[in-house]
Amino acid sequence: VIDIRKLYAETGCFTYDPGFTSTGSCESKITYIDGDNGILLHRGYPIEELAEHSDYMEVCYLLLHGELPNHEQKQKFELTITRHTMVHEQLSNFFRGFRRDAHPMAIMCGVVGALSAFYHDSLDIEDPQQRMIASHRLIAKMPTIAAMAYKYSIGQPFIYPRNDLDYAENFLHMNFAVPCEPYKVDPVIAKAMDRIFILHADHEQNASTSTVRLAGSSGANPFACIAAGIASLWGPAHGGANEAVLEMLQEIGHKDRIPEFVRRAKDKSDSFRLMGFGHRVYKNYDPRAKVMQRTCNEVLQTLGIKDDPLLEIAVELERIALQDEYFVEKKLYPNVDFYSGIILKAIGFPTSMFTVLFALARTVGWISQWKEMIEDPVQKIGRPRQLYTGATMRHYVPLDERG
Ligand code: ACO
Repeated sequence: VIDIRKLYAETGCFTYDPGFTSTGSCESKITYIDGDNGILLHRGYPIEELAEHSDYMEVCYLLLHGELPNHEQKQKFELTITRHTMVHEQLSNFFRGFRRDAHPMAIMCGVVGALSAFYHDSLDIEDPQQRMIASHRLIAKMPTIAAMAYKYSIGQPFIYPRNDLDYAENFLHMNFAVPCEPYKVDPVIAKAMDRIFILHADHEQNASTSTVRLAGSSGANPFACIAAGIASLWGPAHGGANEAVLEMLQEIGHKDRIPEFVRRAKDKSDSFRLMGFGHRVYKNYDPRAKVMQRTCNEVLQTLGIKDDPLLEIAVELERIALQDEYFVEKKLYPNVDFYSGIILKAIGFPTSMFTVLFALARTVGWISQWKEMIEDPVQKIGRPRQLYTGATMRHYVPLDERG
């Protein structure tokens, strides 16, 4: 390993690596990805095993603490998270300041950033206890805030969290219950929701996580850092892709039109890309996409949705793209976003909520990475260098002497 700091001090050299395609920014013990072989491990555990046998609360504990919890630790953790699900009542006024047709991600950026104005007793990043309280608060309150953003957008009253339900059930309840009617969460749907949360929990140094770390490296408080991560996640090349996939499938509209869109994706004069395909790190199948596809089939079956036209288009698009020389040569495989939108739509979420759900689930990854960075003794403020290509020194010319 080259010691870049030493190299820079001795030679003045630095690496120019747009998009940080081959620059490590930190050491981390949280998540490992082997992109060539399609492997994703959290604290050493394969994502497939966690998705199959674990639950989101357990994965949250694992990411934050480094080990799976025992019975007692799990119970205590769940109780702590449950106790923090409510948001300060005054925060609901904050929502009312937004236009009803605002994108829920815009609301999330604002409201999550505003948490630092409410929870003053967990802003001291030097205090390990406060760091942990902030982490618990964020994991607990994100579902409440996300559901409030949804309810606000459809003009329904906010639904308070129910602490007798588990994390995913409570989230579904806050989104789909209405005060005047009983609402029962389907256990298969709740399990699928929980699995979607697990699949999005962390993914090492992607754009949003790097943003959280960079923001945090200056000593900014955790709520502000997570708001920065949400902003970064919003882009269609990152978390916004799940929303873009569904829009693309709807635009394709019929299996017969797939070749036309595949052709467009390969045409360099056309900015269109197959959304939900390709990944900076995976040059093989994204292991999360496989689990997502299985979950998609389960959910559609449970809901009695047969022959979903969008699923049909998605499956056929995947089949055609995986046989196409362009996609094979560039190693472009479906990523986690390819099937998630179909599941979320079937559950009843509008497309504008898809990236919000991603942000909710990724919060544990962001906050675990933030904590790891703060606790890393070699941590320094993030400060990339640049390759300056502007004018060389020149002298000021008074306004009336300029041509
Ligand atoms: N459709 C068509 N061509 C593509 C696609 C695609 N989805 N993705 C990459 N390519 C092509 C590029 O045009 C480029 O071709 P070239 O070498 O001829 O110039 C080559 O593959 C490499 O692509 P880059 O953009 O350089 O790869 P990078 O690692 O920077 O980008 C990214 C990865 C952003 C995910 C890209 O594949 C993409 O835009 N995919 C669609 C959006 C998407 O699904 N995003 C979700 C990512 S997963 C996540 O954030 C949860």
